[in-house]
Amino acid sequence: MSTGSAPAQKENRLSDREAYAAFDAARVSMVLSDPNADDNPIVYVNRAFTETTGYSARAAVGRNCRFLQGEDTDPEEVQRIREAIAARHDITVDLVNYKSTGEKFVNRLMVSPVFDREGELIYFLGIQRVLAPEDRLISPNAVLHEMREIQHRVKNHLAMIASLIRMHGRGASGAEHHFNQLSRRVESLQVLYEELANPARRRNMDTVELGAYLSRLVSAMQNFDGRPGIRLNVSVDDFEAPTDTAVNIGLVVSEILTNALKHAFLGRETGLVELRMARLQGQVLRIIVSDDGVGMDDGAEWPSKESVGGRVIRSLILQLDGKVAVMRGANGTVVTLDVPLASQ
Ligand SMILES: Nc1ncnc2c1ncn2[C@@H]1O[C@H](COP(=O)(O)OP(=O)(O)OP(=O)(O)O)[C@@H](O)[C@H]1O
Ligand SMILES: [Mg+2]
Repeated sequence: MSTGSAPAQKENRLSDREAYAAFDAARVSMVLSDPNADDNPIVYVNRAFTETTGYSARAAVGRNCRFLQGEDTDPEEVQRIREAIAARHDITVDLVNYKSTGEKFVNRLMVSPVFDREGELIYFLGIQRVLAPEDRLISPNAVLHEMREIQHRVKNHLAMIASLIRMHGRGASGAEHHFNQLSRRVESLQVLYEELANPARRRNMDTVELGAYLSRLVSAMQNFDGRPGIRLNVSVDDFEAPTDTAVNIGLVVSEILTNALKHAFLGRETGLVELRMARLQGQVLRIIVSDDGVGMDDGAEWPSKESVGGRVIRSLILQLDGKVAVMRGANGTVVTLDVPLASQ
């Protein structure tokens, strides 16, 4: 957020209504700070941050994150964060923080450095989760075990988020819009995190019920990108997928669905988007996203090498060793994603 006049930056002003809608509903509490400025000030917070802490962007931007701390904050935990920041490492801590009302809460804070393509440190990313009392009442051994698992998973997730931030770049213009799009992308990771934390399936964090995860993802998207006349149907087989595969599939599906919601029904009041997933013979998972909208422009390459969305899809398909095909017609767009399972 190195650009823009200071007041505009302070207000976190949104560049357009669409960005606002995405931003408004993102539930991941996210903070970015600028380690290249004096005292590592916050340069961006999203709406979920404001909901969690009670502090508006105006109140938070420009300050060091320590303003959330108070007398019950454990200085040792603070010191751990300080050391990790100095060493440019990831860290996860449970920290007592205070809301603007003075109310205490336990914040599971994950902090990760973000480097640009040249390896320069450009941001620290903080993701916050308020811990419910029951999360903290597990036996110490169980906590230790769970923390190890989460540390491992979170590390991968933070790496993924960091790479998304890199793909977005520094956003010379419309930085807020930039971050809001990013926030939307991070949302799909948050949904996965919720699925992993679902008490009913806590025993195994290496796999995710992919059908349930995608269904959750669709309802989250309906909340932030949905329009009343646009129906979203989901028909998915039950299938346990390795967590890392599920992360990648979730991000691709979220890009494709966002496209359908954003582009397919321009000038239309009603429409249908369908997400289907089935396991084919020969260890292939087939995911189809179709819409009955205006159809995708025939001439343009898709996935594009130019757009962030296109680059996200391309890099994830490569990681999945999958294939993506698009059918464009007057009756809408059908995107088919095939992911081989044997090699996962
Ligand atoms: N389901 C769809 N129906 C109609 N047009 C589509 C659909 N999906 C994509 N498009 C067209 O393809 C273009 C490229 O999509 P792409 O996802 O690469 O970029 P974007 O959505 O414009 O930007 P970004 O994804 O980076 O936010 C879109 O701008 C839109 O014109
Ligand atoms: Mg897109």
